[in-house]
Amino acid sequence: MSTFGHRHLLGIEPLAAADIETILDLSERFLEIAGRPIKKVPTLRGKTVINLFLEPSTRTRTSFEIAAKRLSADAVNISGSGSSTSKGETLMDTARNLDAMSPDVVVVRHAQAGAAEMLARQLRAAIVNAGDGAHEHPTQALLDLLTIREKKGHFDGLHVAIVGDVAHSRVARSDIHGMRKLGMTVTVAGPPTLIPPYVQELGAKVSYRLEDAIGDVDVIMMLRLQQERMDAGLIPSLREYARYWGLTLDKLSRHARPDVLIMHPGPVNRGIELAPEVADGPYSVILDQVSHGVAVRMGVLLLLAGRKGGDHA
Ligand code: CP
Repeated sequence: MSTFGHRHLLGIEPLAAADIETILDLSERFLEIAGRPIKKVPTLRGKTVINLFLEPSTRTRTSFEIAAKRLSADAVNISGSGSSTSKGETLMDTARNLDAMSPDVVVVRHAQAGAAEMLARQLRAAIVNAGDGAHEHPTQALLDLLTIREKKGHFDGLHVAIVGDVAHSRVARSDIHGMRKLGMTVTVAGPPTLIPPYVQELGAKVSYRLEDAIGDVDVIMMLRLQQERMDAGLIPSLREYARYWGLTLDKLSRHARPDVLIMHPGPVNRGIELAPEVADGPYSVILDQVSHGVAVRMGVLLLLAGRKGGDHA
């Protein structure tokens, strides 16, 4: 923990592999707290965490709140419709007013890429990026990595296929950064209209056929088709997308390895990118990802709130 030298968590890109390992090692120690009768430790007593979520969220917002409460911090939640941004106040004015109440950490989700970094330049509180546009979603990547490490036991030589709407996915960008830094091979796959050129600059391979991409991989990460961020015309139709890019049990059994892990950051469009029997089937670790999210967010909050460890496990 003492080796983590960052004041904010704005993305995976600025982190070194050792920083990622530090967060994962600390977070792993928090996993067992979920199984205790009393799921609370006193580590961040007296600290304040504000969750400023100006885009919808189920998993990330809830798990940051649970993480803060399990560490005994005071957690305050603000949503877009419940904040004065809905009355025309700017994000920066809202954030400055929140900062004036002396929180230790502000967790922010916003539709604009760069929103978290902008707050980090102006506020005294530590900032955690909980998703900024199509840029980064670092805690999602960290919980993905923790899940892979727990299930596979290591990262060395693993090959991950990231499939679907990569163009609109902050999760894909954060995952590619993290997986490449930790020595994994990444193949991204999707229709050409949904594969951005940056993925090759980050060291990912590209495939335009699902059956080829999933044939020789340890992990398949399916992505949500983000229709709310999509201009018209990027896919011919939902039915055609599901036919060519939807992962079904039949495609899995014919093309994938028997020990492959199926992951998805959620929310899942059932029947589009993922058949229900795959989402709920034996290959799926989707709910493990969600459980691991609480431990990862506990680890991140502890590192950024600046308390020395020792009494947290
Ligand atoms: N994976 C993820 O970010 O989910 P939410 O949008 O529900 O937070």
